[in-house]
This record gives sequence, C-alpha cells and structure tokens, in this order.
Amino acid sequence: MYVLGIETSCDETASAVVKDGREVISDTISSSLEFHQKYGGIVPEIAFRRQLETIAQVVDCTVKEAGIKLRDIAVVAVTEQPGLLGSLVVGLSFAKGISMAAQVPLLGVNHLQSHIYSVFLNQQKINFPFVALVVSGGHSSLFYIEDFREIRLLGETLDDACGEAFDKVAQILGLGYPGGPLIERLAQEGDAGKIKFACSRTKKPLDFSFSGIKTAVLYYVRQLTGSPVNRLKNRQTAKLPNRQTRDIAASFQETIIDTLLEKSLLACKVKKTKALVVGGGVSANNRLRQKFLEVTTEEGISCFFPEKKFCTDNAAMVAGLGYWLFKGGR
Ligand code: KG4
Ligand code: ZN
Repeated sequence: MYVLGIETSCDETASAVVKDGREVISDTISSSLEFHQKYGGIVPEIAFRRQLETIAQVVDCTVKEAGIKLRDIAVVAVTEQPGLLGSLVVGLSFAKGISMAAQVPLLGVNHLQSHIYSVFLNQQKINFPFVALVVSGGHSSLFYIEDFREIRLLGETLDDACGEAFDKVAQILGLGYPGGPLIERLAQEGDAGKIKFACSRTKKPLDFSFSGIKTAVLYYVRQLTGSPVNRLKNRQTAKLPNRQTRDIAASFQETIIDTLLEKSLLACKVKKTKALVVGGGVSANNRLRQKFLEVTTEEGISCFFPEKKFCTDNAAMVAGLGYWLFKGGR
C-alpha cells in the first residue's frame, strides 16, 4: 500500500511515497534555507511563500519518481502540528486538494511523533514499548510509546529547544545557521573537558532547560573578548582564536549530550524499559550517536537512531506514520 506524505512544518517543502509504512520509494526535499541564512534563523514569511511556490512541483516530482500514478496512492498523510502556522496551512491545503482529487482519505499527523517514527523507515524491527527522545530545532521531549496511538509525554524543555541552543551558540561564536552541524564539525578538534559548562537543573527530573547554558557560553565569550553582551547578541561575531572556538564548541556539545543521555537513561529506568529511540535534527550528531550507543550498551539498553537522512525534517516519516495510524483505524 502506497502512502503519500507531505511535510511543511518549518522551512522545508517535502513529500515522499512510502510502501507499507517502511519502504521509502521516493523522497523529495526542497529547502528555502539559503533565503534565511542572512537572518540567522528561519523567517516564517519567507518560508511559507517559498513553500507555496514549490509544493506542486515537489509532490509531482515525488510521485513521478516513485513510478506510480496518483490513483495508486491509498492515503495522503500530512503534518498538521506543531510548526509554523503559514507553512502548515500550505501543506495541509495542498494535501486536502490531492486527497479530494485522488478520492482517498486524508490523515493529519503530529510532527514530533513522525520524528519518532523515522527510526522504522528502511530498518529493523523495534518492539514496543520504548522511550523516545525527540531533539529538534523546536522541541526537546521525552515520551513513553506503548504504540503510536498511546503516547505519554514524560518531560519537555522549559525554555529553548536543544537544536535551538546549538543554533544560538553557533550564532554567538559567529559560525552561521543552522548551528548544529557547524558546532559538531568544530567540536571534533576541540577539547570537550576544557570548559565546565552545565545545563540548568529542572524541578521535574525529566524536563530540560537549555537557556542557561546558552547564556553561560555568551558570558564566557564576552569574558574572553571583552565584548558587551548586547553586541554579541546582535550577531557580532565573537572573533576568538580558532582553538578557543573549538574548545567552546566541544565543551558545550558534550554537556548537552551528557544531559540528554542522563535524562534518557532515567526515563528508561522509570518506565522499566530496555529500548530507547532518538529522533529529530540533533540525532544526526555523530558524537551524540556514538556516546548514546556506548553508554546504553553498557546499561543493557537497545538504542535506535534514524538513518542520517531521516533525522532532519522529511516527508517519508510522515507517510510511514500515516500508514501505521491508518492501519490502526485512524
Ligand atoms: O528536526 P529538524 O530538522 O527541524 C525541527 O523540527 O526543528 O531539526 C533542526 C535542528 C536545528 O536546530 C539544527 O541545528 C539541528 O537540528 N541539527 C543538529 C545537527 N544537524 C541538525 N544539531 C546538532 N548536530 C547536528 N549534526
Ligand atoms: Zn522536525
């Protein structure tokens, strides 16, 4: 059974055809990133205008590449929330049109749940129940998944999302946007034990807080450069020697990873489960993947990641989850 997935929750315009919930037949992503880069983050107005311009072409290309006709599609699945309002409306409206034209059901899916589902694409079987950590540019949450119709939120960020912290620290260091991959690259050559950063403690142990560590980096950089905080906030580059920038990137990244790991292990312990799934843009980080795998193996927990290409926003995860929910009676 073929499901067409459509995803427009942030800056991407993505569509995919997935067979039986797992086999990705075609997968197209058009990003408007280059139009946002000079602003240091996503500008919603630019994002949805680009999506409006490209969506028909993207979906057409995906269906053609899959070697199928519109009438072969059994369900249209689309991201309905959370995300940028204008962007979601573009995807939803287009998906509605396609479902009416092809006379097939339309199914709205949750963006965070589809990030969790991304581990099932083209991969081995994972048994329920499991704990899921979603770390993206807009969210950082821990869930307990009995199945995709029975999802319990265990904890979430009280302020910045994890990817957002990477993006803001990259901005402080004058690296560019999106910050995650840039920090990861620099961190490879830095000393992660050089600077003692810490994530703020939270009242509920499974919640997250990343705003404090971002500010700690800002003050650390200010101390090194003697620049006023406001100037750095206004995207003045920090202009630190390369070695210092690498050490800051490595120390920051390691602290974030340790915090995510500690809370994920705690969630597994609380829920008495031996399976952990990690999804969302930050799960593409190699150091995170390596450390999670090392430590969970020591703890006797099986840890699963999506393929790299399915960590960041894509429509294959939307189509996959759509199939699963449809088969389950949604
Ligand atoms: O899941 P995603 O594509 O979009 C949202 O749903 O938000 O995640 C994007 C976020 C950005 O903040 C980006 O900096 C971060 O994921 N990211 C990374 C890496 N690749 C992307 N963070 C750390 N390391 C990476 N390799
Ligand atoms: Zn996402």
